[in-house]
Amino acid sequence: MTTRFSFALHATDGAARTGVISTPRGEIRTPAFMPVGTAATVKAMLPESVRATGADILLGNTYHLMLRPTAERIARLGGLHRFMNWDRPILTDSGGFQVMSLAELRKLTEEGVTFRSHIDGARHELSPERSMEIQRLLGSDIVMAFDECPALPAERGRIEESMRLSMRWAQRSRDAFGDRPGHALFGIQQGGLEQDLRAESAEALRGIGFDGYAIGGLAVGEGQAAMFGCLDYAPGQLPQDKPRYLMGVGKPDDIVGAVKRGVDMMDCVLPSRSGRTGQAWTRRGQVNLKNARHADDPRPLDEACSCPACRGYSRAYLHHVFRAGEMISGMLLTWHNLHYYQDLMAGMREAIAGGRFEAWEAGFHAARAEGDI
Ligand code: GUN
Ligand code: ZN
Repeated sequence: MTTRFSFALHATDGAARTGVISTPRGEIRTPAFMPVGTAATVKAMLPESVRATGADILLGNTYHLMLRPTAERIARLGGLHRFMNWDRPILTDSGGFQVMSLAELRKLTEEGVTFRSHIDGARHELSPERSMEIQRLLGSDIVMAFDECPALPAERGRIEESMRLSMRWAQRSRDAFGDRPGHALFGIQQGGLEQDLRAESAEALRGIGFDGYAIGGLAVGEGQAAMFGCLDYAPGQLPQDKPRYLMGVGKPDDIVGAVKRGVDMMDCVLPSRSGRTGQAWTRRGQVNLKNARHADDPRPLDEACSCPACRGYSRAYLHHVFRAGEMISGMLLTWHNLHYYQDLMAGMREAIAGGRFEAWEAGFHAARAEGDI
């Protein structure tokens, strides 16, 4: 018996929400943080380790996987879940956004985008129809509509034109996706920092009808204050009874501010990427293990953290293996960072369910203000 894709809102506290998304591959507790597994791996982590941090869902990328090893090859090998040995839900981004930031010789038309691969320079095309086909071949549980957006700041005319193109692509994505029980299609709101364009975009998406709604086009250079300014109204423009996903965000304080404003899902490379450069995120803020001050420090990174890096190793060891370029450095710090992010989400879910989000948030900021030990 297949579970249909559904979202149940369990509690709200101010604008903040907690609930559960149900899919045939398992439940996603919201607010949810999705680790990024761009190339069919969350770098430096085994899938069972990612699960052990508390992740319910991973994010994969159409753009990277279509280039290497190709969607057709992954389909022949049984789909992305089997291929990467992760049997829980996977959300895939649709590719347009990555083409605009990573590919070479991009050409944008009404039909879609043509570009050259950043890997070998080969020519490729993406369109709403091709993106839906690739995400179907991958076996993605949550498919993203094909969209495009400018970096900010950008002229209003450019933001408006791009948003309207993305809304026409959203309709084409909906048409091409069809009816696939157990799989969800999310629309993506655009419109930069212009409230009326965000409203127009939300209206267009609601008219088409999606299983969830993403807020796109943020964290693209506008800064936290401007992003929060937009999040003061954008989630409220989207349907109450469907998940809301803020794409590509962010630092821990960005995530807390987004949840406070009504966001249910987020993804970001930050915890995994910064783990590989010696950066750790803790309750007390950011810690750079590269720093010589850790060289003789026998204490754990965070005495209150229950991850393997904090239970088994000293700051001195983490400093040493980073300096020595040892692979375990990226493994341990990625594990810690993902564990910290998932702890943060669990803390917010509990606080929202208990009607204590404001007090929880005050504690979050107070611990960071104390600074690292
Ligand atoms: N990742 C971060 N922002 C965006 C966006 O606006 N659209 C898509 N497709 N992916 C994103
Ligand atoms: Zn830890």
